[in-house]
Amino acid sequence: MNALQDKVCLITGGAGSLGRAIAKLFAGEGAKLVLSDLDESALATARDEIGSERTVAVAGDVTRAQDAERMVDTALAAFGRLDVVVSNAGNFGTVAPIGEYPEEVFDAVYRVHVKGAFLLIRAAVPKMADGGSIVIMSSVAGTRGDPGVYGYITAKHAQVGLMRCLAKELAPRRIRVNTLHPGPVANSFQGAVEADLSGVIGRDGTEFFNEIIPLGRHAEPGEIARSALYLASDQSSFTTGTMLMVDGGMSA
Ligand SMILES: NC(=O)c1ccc[n+]([C@@H]2O[C@H](COP(=O)([O-])OP(=O)(O)OC[C@H]3O[C@@H](n4cnc5c(N)ncnc54)[C@H](O)[C@@H]3O)[C@@H](O)[C@H]2O)c1
Repeated sequence: MNALQDKVCLITGGAGSLGRAIAKLFAGEGAKLVLSDLDESALATARDEIGSERTVAVAGDVTRAQDAERMVDTALAAFGRLDVVVSNAGNFGTVAPIGEYPEEVFDAVYRVHVKGAFLLIRAAVPKMADGGSIVIMSSVAGTRGDPGVYGYITAKHAQVGLMRCLAKELAPRRIRVNTLHPGPVANSFQGAVEADLSGVIGRDGTEFFNEIIPLGRHAEPGEIARSALYLASDQSSFTTGTMLMVDGGMSA
């Protein structure tokens, strides 16, 4: 279990469901971790849960350039290098018809997923080790449209554009850049989305998703974490500029 032996990995949204699952798996594979999140107390709990003396926590907001710099500098100060960045922090916004979709919600969602990923990676790249890996957590929502999901779906598509530019620019340094596209996950983030959706479509949102996922169920966080491990580690050494779907066939 050493796919990331001594690799220094920075994970944003590290206090959340997928961030924690990824952190636990990476720690078990020998990684040194820098976990970051907006939610300071959940972040402390996540660090304690992982229970590794090789885990450092740094609170911060990915939409603020100085916070992004501090996350990267924490990795350098604690471990002397940075090999892997997982840009995973996210919010959902709301579901509303185009004429009613609030501008401030659109801005808030775009700011976290798109500007946040940009600022984090802009801070990280000059200080990253050559041969490293950047994983941007997009979604099956980055590959399809659905009525009313204007902030989230637009932002998840935009992350693919960012990834593609980076993959080409960073290839000479052998830094690989890919997006990961989970389908609906059995966690509270998706639970809240489905509660909202149930009101809009007038039927159970969870059942609705299970019907349109060919494998007929939601993912477990650990299944998404294993795909993040593939992209972060040398197991994907010839994979860059690609979109890895982990969606039970939903985008097929
Ligand atoms: N849950 C799903 O079904 C699903 C499916 C596809 C993609 N995703 C994506 O996976 C990522 C993680 O989602 P999750 O399911 O673990 O949700 P989550 O809500 O459990 O975790 C998201 C974390 O991001 C943090 N965060 C939000 N805004 C931030 C900011 N400005 N700066 C720093 N941290 C911030 C939150 O505090 C939270 O801990 C998100 O990008 C989400 O869009 C989730």
